[in-house]
Amino acid sequence: MSIRILGTGSYLPPKVVTNDDVGRRLDTTDEWIYSHTGIHSRHVAGENESTSTMAAEAGRAAMAAAGVSPEEIGLIVLATSTPDYNPFPSTACVVQGMLGCTNAGAFDLQAACAGFVYALEQARGFVNFYPDKKALVIGAETLTRVLDWNDRSSCILFGDGAGAVVLGCDDPAGQASAKTTAHTILGADGKGSHFISRSGGCREPLKFDPETGIPLPNDNPEPPMMTLMGHDVFAFAVRTLSKVARDLCEKLGTSPEELDRVFAHQANGRIIEAVARRMKLPIEKFWLNLETTANTSAASIPISLDQAVKAGELKDGMKIVMVGFGAGLTYAGTYCTWPEL
Ligand code: UT7
Repeated sequence: MSIRILGTGSYLPPKVVTNDDVGRRLDTTDEWIYSHTGIHSRHVAGENESTSTMAAEAGRAAMAAAGVSPEEIGLIVLATSTPDYNPFPSTACVVQGMLGCTNAGAFDLQAACAGFVYALEQARGFVNFYPDKKALVIGAETLTRVLDWNDRSSCILFGDGAGAVVLGCDDPAGQASAKTTAHTILGADGKGSHFISRSGGCREPLKFDPETGIPLPNDNPEPPMMTLMGHDVFAFAVRTLSKVARDLCEKLGTSPEELDRVFAHQANGRIIEAVARRMKLPIEKFWLNLETTANTSAASIPISLDQAVKAGELKDGMKIVMVGFGAGLTYAGTYCTWPEL
């Protein structure tokens, strides 16, 4: 039996904000942003959109591509750092309701921009255990709602969107033992947890009424806002992405030159170029879409996969690596022979 990606889908909101648009409010230019990041524009969620609505669109498209009905889905894993609610109910549950996946368990997974690969691995374990069930794995983000739009060094980097895949097994009766061409690395470095963070959590202590000893109402909730140590993140990303991709190849007794495509998290074009140089691979092997999507965090890899499938550039039998990094710090990579996991 083998576990496969049966279908892909993605959604990008119609509203587009260009660098020139940002330059009309902040002291920045398209020339600076493009030369430092490879980004020209980003999609921004509109009035009636949120992480759940975009995730549902991507999930619906992935189920249609897979030829799988909502009732066949046994699990929804939704990777996001920008849930509709913070943190409950999970956005995965909201999406489960929207899609009518009445037989599915559902949970959110938070591993920032490495979240999709983490989620894929959880779903792979689920399908391996329950070969008659399908899993829907989604990466979806509305990062533009947690940015400091006065900070020109961070607000220019991110965009909104969602991508999804459906996982299933080619031997639902589970007669044969699982065979896999895939290998996955999941990792973290918590010492860098301050490199990228978002305010608004439960770490601040309560104030207590001295008379009664009971908590006073919390009248100062922090607005959700991202802070980013760009240089440190850049160095970590280049070092980690190339190491994970190389380690995956080594584990499987192959070399990076054998790879047909690399789907790296779309954080910054200069990061991807540096990774390509370190891996001694031509940049053409790396899927690049951040010129028009910017960094969509957990959605970036599944959006890339869907675009590559639709463009006919991701074909059965291709050897690929998906590799991401993000806040936490987290990192994760999967080597597989598409569409087997
Ligand atoms: O998913 C993970 C998310 N995070 C990332 O991927 C971030 C990774 N890091 C990066 O992409 C880069 O570090 C940035 C794009 C954020 C910054 O690029 P940089 O080449 O490292 O620029 P810098 O921070 O060294 O800034 C150089 C100068 C500064 O001016 P001064 O102090 O030298 O006068 C900045 O104020 O560029 C200035 N600057 C800008 N100027 C025009 C920073 N942002 C802008 C801007 N427009 N948007």
